[in-house]
Amino acid sequence: MIPLCDLKLQYASLSDDINEAMLNVAAEARYILGPNVRALEQEIAEYCGCPHAVGVGSGTDALHLALKGLGVGPGDEVITTPFTFVATTEAIGMVGATPIFVDIDPLTFNMDVSQIESRITPKTKAILPVHLYGQSCNMDVVMDVAQRHGLAVVEDCAQAIGATWRGRPVGSIGDAGCLSFFPSKNLGCFGDGGMLVTNRADVYERVEMLRRHGGRVKYHHEVLGLNSRLDELQAAILRVKFRHLPQWLQSRREAAYTYNALLSEGGQIEMPQELTDSGYVTPQEDTADDSPAHCVYHQYTVQTDHRDELIAHLKNKEVGHAVYYPIPLHLQEVHQDLGYEKGSFPIAERIADRCLSLPMFPEITRAQIECVVDALKESYGSEAPQRAVA
Ligand SMILES: Cc1ncc(COP(=O)(O)O)c(C=O)c1O
Repeated sequence: MIPLCDLKLQYASLSDDINEAMLNVAAEARYILGPNVRALEQEIAEYCGCPHAVGVGSGTDALHLALKGLGVGPGDEVITTPFTFVATTEAIGMVGATPIFVDIDPLTFNMDVSQIESRITPKTKAILPVHLYGQSCNMDVVMDVAQRHGLAVVEDCAQAIGATWRGRPVGSIGDAGCLSFFPSKNLGCFGDGGMLVTNRADVYERVEMLRRHGGRVKYHHEVLGLNSRLDELQAAILRVKFRHLPQWLQSRREAAYTYNALLSEGGQIEMPQELTDSGYVTPQEDTADDSPAHCVYHQYTVQTDHRDELIAHLKNKEVGHAVYYPIPLHLQEVHQDLGYEKGSFPIAERIADRCLSLPMFPEITRAQIECVVDALKESYGSEAPQRAVA
């Protein structure tokens, strides 16, 4: 059996350090906004190239608070992608604003940034790009449009901590970046958790206040806030894991190269592409870097016209897989009131019908990747090569 993501293996490799960190929190008894939350905020802020970070209850809350902190509210419009997890539009709805979609780029799965400008109206307040599966959206265009029209930019980095755009960490390019520490994310805790990073002192101060009932001083409440604080226990766990993040991200890239090399031999599967200055590529090794986007492969997602058959075969072979996401957001029941219909965003709809994510985690071995690829090839009838058992 090959899992989609192996959290037990990750815990096993770090269990002594994580257990010690958890016991220290229990003994210290500083459970709310304690020293680990403060230290993690500093560590992540530095890693993301921002002066400020605020630990919150989840990635969804980070998005919600970023929009609220930037003053996005009822009647406003926020331009985003329909091909993302629902949390992206939930956050927009939570502040009373309306999501306005653009279609996506069929090769990177991210927003088709060339469509953003045509969707701007007098009500537009912000752009919310999502760095899907760990690859940065084209931030040159997003920032150019935002600056020319005076719009805020909130980056949804839930899947992309450590990814960069032209060498700049995602989250540090717009007005705020939102991270998720959901367990299966590239840096995940043992429950829910999230963080907002920002270069803007005003956004930091506002969100820091909003996350704890809207006040800076205990029992003095300046604005209507909420209770959304990253938990001290989760922060302690994340600080242990964070030390390994650069190595894990490199291992994810190497796993992607192995998939790319094996799938390109006689493939009927479309492999994920990285955007470079000279076009889209499917790299098989770290190359001299002309890539504006440095992808961290939260997911390794292929495209196929035969998804149902492949899934049946993968199930049979006990190979983990997932469809992220089967229904684009403009066709979800929750967004019926927006008035979109089938055909409104044909590329997002086509990708939703064809995408398939394969096992991807830092510890995945070459032998496991070979098994996944062999299972895929068997299912579409090409001869799986005989391999020596590792
Ligand atoms: C693209 C995207 N945005 C937002 C979120 C929300 O994060 P969380 O689950 O921590 O609330 C997720 C994660 O599930 C996500 O994948």
